[in-house]
Amino acid sequence: MKAKSKNDIKKWSEKHTEALLTDIGIKKGQTVLDFGCNEGSYTIPAARIVEEKGKIYALDKEGKSLVKTMKKVKSKGLKNVIGIISSNELQIPLRKNSVDVVLLYDVLHKGFFPKIEDRKKILSSIYKVLRKNGFVSVYLTHLRQFGTTFKKAMEEIENVGFVCCEEYHKKVIHSENLVKGRIFTYRKTKTQE
Ligand SMILES: C[S@@+](CC[C@H](N)C(=O)[O-])C[C@H]1O[C@@H](n2cnc3c(N)ncnc32)[C@H](O)[C@@H]1O
Repeated sequence: MKAKSKNDIKKWSEKHTEALLTDIGIKKGQTVLDFGCNEGSYTIPAARIVEEKGKIYALDKEGKSLVKTMKKVKSKGLKNVIGIISSNELQIPLRKNSVDVVLLYDVLHKGFFPKIEDRKKILSSIYKVLRKNGFVSVYLTHLRQFGTTFKKAMEEIENVGFVCCEEYHKKVIHSENLVKGRIFTYRKTKTQE
């Protein structure tokens, strides 16, 4: 059998990720914030799902990563991705209640946010930009490496007012490898705006 080329693998992983993001509930026309987009492994498939009526904010603190993402966006002819370099790393420069979905994949951990106060600040900022009926999809990684657990990490998310509604066990791309991951959906609690 012919070995798959790098290009075939990339195409396959984009399709796989598109199916994953559809399964977790991203839909045509939505506005999605890909927080910590890096080189766009999730940005590109999300942009395909929301189509031209929707919008993806691809946000990263690293200019180089964002440039790579935007190059890919251009080469694929996508016109619905807005790149954002975050200068204030703990606040999201978007309007209140303006986003339907936030992707927090492989970013909410002590490697990027060593202090609990900072994780709280970024989660609170996400809470503000999220619409009332929106959701945050979280892929928690590196827990054992940083001496924590799913329970503790989930409590931190719940402490800012989110409630966990769903959990998916899916194959996800993590550092260019396909691994089994736990993906959680969080929504705003009813008592808060
Ligand atoms: C490990 S990568 C994950 C990328 C992507 N979400 C994925 O799963 O393929 C984490 C990314 O988050 C970015 N990042 C970390 N802290 C950030 C912050 N405070 N604001 C914006 N981007 C941040 C890093 O620069 C990096 O590109």
